[in-house]
Amino acid sequence: MKLFLDTANLEEIREAKKWGVLAGCTTNPSLLAREHADYELQMKEVCNEVPGPVSLETTETEEDAMFSQGMKLASVADNAVVKVPMTPDGLAAGKRLVAEGIPVNVTLVFSPAQALLAAEIGATYCSPFLGRLDDVAMDGLGILSEICEIYSVQGYDTLVLAASLRHPVHVVEAAKMGADVATMPFDVFTKLVKHPLTDAGLAKFLDDWKKLQQELKEGA
Ligand code: E4P
Repeated sequence: MKLFLDTANLEEIREAKKWGVLAGCTTNPSLLAREHADYELQMKEVCNEVPGPVSLETTETEEDAMFSQGMKLASVADNAVVKVPMTPDGLAAGKRLVAEGIPVNVTLVFSPAQALLAAEIGATYCSPFLGRLDDVAMDGLGILSEICEIYSVQGYDTLVLAASLRHPVHVVEAAKMGADVATMPFDVFTKLVKHPLTDAGLAKFLDDWKKLQQELKEGA
């Protein structure tokens, strides 16, 4: 499973990149708004910084306008992926973008039925939002599992991109279910590496090592 950051923040991308595990990035209008910057420039910089696909989301709601905006977003960089919402217009515009050879990410997916539609237009990614389902007392992981099963049984090429992940358990369970990608906020990304036993173990190793150096120094 590939690990993506869900951000438009360059510092977060640079930090995660250092670990050598960042495979891509997803942005959305809210994440770009959080940067309070020229969004076109920000999109370009994010694409330059990320060593993999970067989803850039359309904000138009009508098919023709969404298609034109999608074409423009696709030209931002070679690694741009156009995000369209799971609406009838989003599907129609998405299908036209796919026909132009543009990678499409269908976003705001909350049910297996919607995921089926995303695969049928030939989208590269389908993004079920786990955390937002959990927020309304629905089973985000359960729905992800159904989507993974449908895609596997039907042999769809569309990749399952588990989104709206809120904690490391979401990430690990998504991996167990066979999701192709997990996109997460920087906060969740950093939590993946943390374990109190790692910190305690390292502190003890370093302490013992220091003691040995001291012993050798005193014995010399
Ligand atoms: C995915 O592409 C979305 O940008 C994202 O995962 C939404 O997550 P949120 O529910 O934390 O806003």
